[in-house]
Amino acid sequence: MGSNKMALVTGASAGIGEDIARDLAARGYDLFLVARRKERMDALKIQLVKEHGVQVLVHAQDLSTHTACEELLAALQKADVTIDVLVNNAGFGSFCPTLDADTERERAMVRILFQFPVDLTRALVRGMIERGQGRILQVASTASFQPSPGYGMYAATKAAILSWSNVLHYELRGTGVTCTTLCPGPTATEFGEISGHVSNRLQDSTKMSSPAVARIGVRAMLRGQATVIPGFVNKLGALLSTRMPRWFVVPLVARVLRGAK
Ligand SMILES: NC(=O)c1ccc[n+]([C@@H]2O[C@H](COP(=O)([O-])OP(=O)(O)OC[C@H]3O[C@@H](n4cnc5c(N)ncnc54)[C@H](OP(=O)(O)O)[C@@H]3O)[C@@H](O)[C@H]2O)c1
Repeated sequence: MGSNKMALVTGASAGIGEDIARDLAARGYDLFLVARRKERMDALKIQLVKEHGVQVLVHAQDLSTHTACEELLAALQKADVTIDVLVNNAGFGSFCPTLDADTERERAMVRILFQFPVDLTRALVRGMIERGQGRILQVASTASFQPSPGYGMYAATKAAILSWSNVLHYELRGTGVTCTTLCPGPTATEFGEISGHVSNRLQDSTKMSSPAVARIGVRAMLRGQATVIPGFVNKLGALLSTRMPRWFVVPLVARVLRGAK
């Protein structure tokens, strides 16, 4: 590969991951893109190579399986690449009452939103420490701060990845490697459609654009910040959620989410 640093971005076929890939390419990073929809990543590759002259590798894989981490590590080894920047972004939500949730889909969600990023980070961070430099970006959510009726398991995994990543960031101090957690609020992507949640007018009015969220996340990651919440409304919501008692927060969140058309 070229002399540029290499960034691995999961969930790069759409939404925030695609925009993080665009942002990193504009900063001169080579890219290793991962998601299931290869044709979308191939189209993105053509564009980024043309616009920024970076090298882009595309790897199509389902990251929600039991063996996802091992398979991806084997693909990285085969491609003979060293990862300087890891962006764990791939994921999906599922909006339904806890007892109606499909067990297999819930398990896949836990794997892709928690187990997989933890395993992949642990596998790649050692090399970064040996080289004395590296950046990790975990994409969590403002749901990390609030139990969310309808998004019960989703919010639980996002709380878990924020907690784990904040500990890693602390333990990495002095190594030259940092782990940043990006906690977006509602963002205009395909996420809502896939999760089955029809957002209400209030949520629509506070939605941020995906490129803006990506830019804020990449900037915070390159600075080595521990946590970043994009947007004033999201910051305020996260702050209040952690200050107010849960007996108040949970029904309030349920009400906000239930307002959907
Ligand atoms: N949009 C929001 O309001 C919002 C708010 C807070 C946090 N987030 C978080 O932001 C991250 C990105 O979401 P987004 O909003 O950009 O959603 P999106 O537009 O639906 O994009 C999701 C990305 O994840 C990939 N992905 C999903 N399931 C996968 C699987 N099984 N294997 C491999 N890749 C998979 C998708 O690619 P393929 O389908 O091609 O595999 C796609 O590239 C997620 O972690 C999400 O939880 C989103």
